[in-house]
Amino acid sequence: MELPVIGLGLASASSSGTAPAIDAAPRDQPVPNTPAVEAVAAEKTYSNGTRALLPVDLRVQQGEFVTLLGPSGCGKSTLLKMAAGLLSPSAGQMRLWGRPVDGVRGRAQALSFVFQEATLMPWARVMANVRLPLDLAGVPRAAAELRVRAALQRVGLDKFENALPRELSGGMQMRVSIARALVTEPALLLMDEPFGALDEITRWRLDSDLLGLWQAQGLTVLFVTHSIHEAVFLSQRVVVMAARPGRIVEELRIDEPHPRSPGFRVSTAFSGFARQLQDSLLRASDADNHSAPA
Ligand SMILES: Nc1ncnc2c1ncn2[C@@H]1O[C@H](COP(=O)(O)OP(=O)(O)OP(=O)(O)O)[C@@H](O)[C@H]1O
Ligand SMILES: [Mg+2]
Repeated sequence: MELPVIGLGLASASSSGTAPAIDAAPRDQPVPNTPAVEAVAAEKTYSNGTRALLPVDLRVQQGEFVTLLGPSGCGKSTLLKMAAGLLSPSAGQMRLWGRPVDGVRGRAQALSFVFQEATLMPWARVMANVRLPLDLAGVPRAAAELRVRAALQRVGLDKFENALPRELSGGMQMRVSIARALVTEPALLLMDEPFGALDEITRWRLDSDLLGLWQAQGLTVLFVTHSIHEAVFLSQRVVVMAARPGRIVEELRIDEPHPRSPGFRVSTAFSGFARQLQDSLLRASDADNHSAPA
């Protein structure tokens, strides 16, 4: 079954279509030593016949930061949505913490999905925007507001709870969206080009903030980007994908300790990783060109 993607900046991934019952539905405990996300020969053909993904095998360990990098149309969003349970694979399986995605209790609480656009409600103040997933889950107002304030503090927006989205810069709106994703205290953050629409300096700042949150909260992050540089800066591991049809072609471990300082971006090590990813993407696109009909 394909679930609708709601424009909230998070996945309300309840398979029943009802509001996620945050307090009523206990989370499954993570099974030790199982990957947070696992694709087992997971493939996707859309109903119009588009073969978006060939069978993909991927494991993201708990606490890992993994990035999917590849050209437009290679199936990055498709793979991420399957991990969120927003799309079902046509064949194969997606598993979260060792269980089929549909069978994870409290899934809407355990994972959050951040889209490229902040997708805030323009008429609602920051407090109400960030509180939304808790309101949907029926969390009492006072408890919800405490959690919103903690989430806003984590993204450095604690002074802006009464602001309207139009009073905030693009980077601040994206922070609100991330606060909304964090407010349910997820174990897994699925991020689909979250900073793609921002200027480079803001993007760098949010990249660093995200790494800080990832380390402080012990999150697992599966991140999507087109940007080689963003992939190198953030990730412990970069999974390179190719298009027509979408598939995983290579992966590169970025063996550089965290936290990563801005100086890493101009280091020889950084250029070396970027070069390897560039070569990998070129190899993948050459393979496409050779397989394309004349
Ligand atoms: N709902 C859909 N119905 C039919 N085809 C789709 C649908 N969504 C995506 N596709 C197709 O599946 C393929 C993979 O799309 P997907 O959005 O996953 O790529 P992507 O790597 O995220 O691209 P981008 O970098 O542009 O966001 C593309 O050929 C796309 O046209
Ligand atoms: Mg996409």
